[in-house]
Amino acid sequence: MQEALLKVEGLKTYFYLDDKKIAKAVDDIQFTIHPGETVALVGESGSGKSITSLSIMQLINKPGRIEKGTILFNGQDLVKLSEKEMAKVRGNDLAMIFQEPMTALNPVFTIGNQIMETLIKHKKLTKMQAHKKAIELLKMVGFPRAEETINEYPHQLSGGMRQRAMIAIAMSCDPKLLIADEPTTALDVTIQAQILDLMNEMKQKFNTAILLITHDLGVVAEYADRVMVMYGGQIVEDTTVEQLFSDPKHPYTTGLLESLPSIDKEVKRLGAIKGTVPPSHSFPSGCRFSDRCPNVMEQCQQALPQLLSIETGHKVRCYLYD
Ligand SMILES: Nc1ncnc2c1ncn2[C@@H]1O[C@H](COP(=O)(O)OP(=O)(O)OP(=O)(O)O)[C@@H](O)[C@H]1O
Ligand SMILES: [Mg+2]
Repeated sequence: MQEALLKVEGLKTYFYLDDKKIAKAVDDIQFTIHPGETVALVGESGSGKSITSLSIMQLINKPGRIEKGTILFNGQDLVKLSEKEMAKVRGNDLAMIFQEPMTALNPVFTIGNQIMETLIKHKKLTKMQAHKKAIELLKMVGFPRAEETINEYPHQLSGGMRQRAMIAIAMSCDPKLLIADEPTTALDVTIQAQILDLMNEMKQKFNTAILLITHDLGVVAEYADRVMVMYGGQIVEDTTVEQLFSDPKHPYTTGLLESLPSIDKEVKRLGAIKGTVPPSHSFPSGCRFSDRCPNVMEQCQQALPQLLSIETGHKVRCYLYD
């Protein structure tokens, strides 16, 4: 197997709240991503998916901070980089499509300016070359009138168009790793498919690895190679997509799959399991899923299980498999 592109180990990202509580948004996660691989990250709202991706990007702001851990990317520990060094990585080998495009696009610059900036700064193109390339990129993400779009401001575009503009910016640097946080949740189904297909094309063309955060297990089935299930700031299962659907191990994963739509069931999304995720400042002392788990045993409430390998390419954090 080729060397990992991203290797996250023992990562903890905590938020220090006003009332002295600590929200353990990401609490000791480990995973790797290989070049060209699409890895999905799934889990209920509040489980720590966005904070995981923002930690990789080194975009955690106060009151949060990376408490512990390493994020090796291309052999370099991102946690140790200065802001200036990190800014270089962000525009080059590492790019992110954010959950909310308006937070990533700058409202006072045209779409063209924002794409060209990356090309001029990181790819060292001249202004004219960058202009030409920006039009190509906009056409590639489905703007037929790219020559006009390039002069438009973010607020002049619809939600779907903004999302595509953000993809064009992310693609402009040919990243080795693209992090996509719910890239299509706000979009209608046809545009969703277009955007995911675009990301897939990019993966095929440039061997881009993708960390795909999604609520949609249908998207996981269609686009991902591997999947990590997150619960309460931790990864509770890490496996291939085939195994996820054919042989899920963690009771939380099983619950998620049972909440999937089928022909004779009403369409439901993730999170149809009884109860809710505990707030990240007050997890139970044992397994974080223990108070919702149908298989709960005595030891589950006493100590936190570890994420252990149960077979090649399949890890699970559960005493049932200890
Ligand atoms: N700015 C913040 N201040 C305090 N706590 C925060 C902050 N941002 C995130 N958190 C905590 O981190 C937890 C994880 O948040 P995160 O945004 O990663 O969830 P998510 O899995 O991306 O959810 P969603 O599916 O809704 O996007 C939250 O439950 C919250 O407790
Ligand atoms: Mg999120």
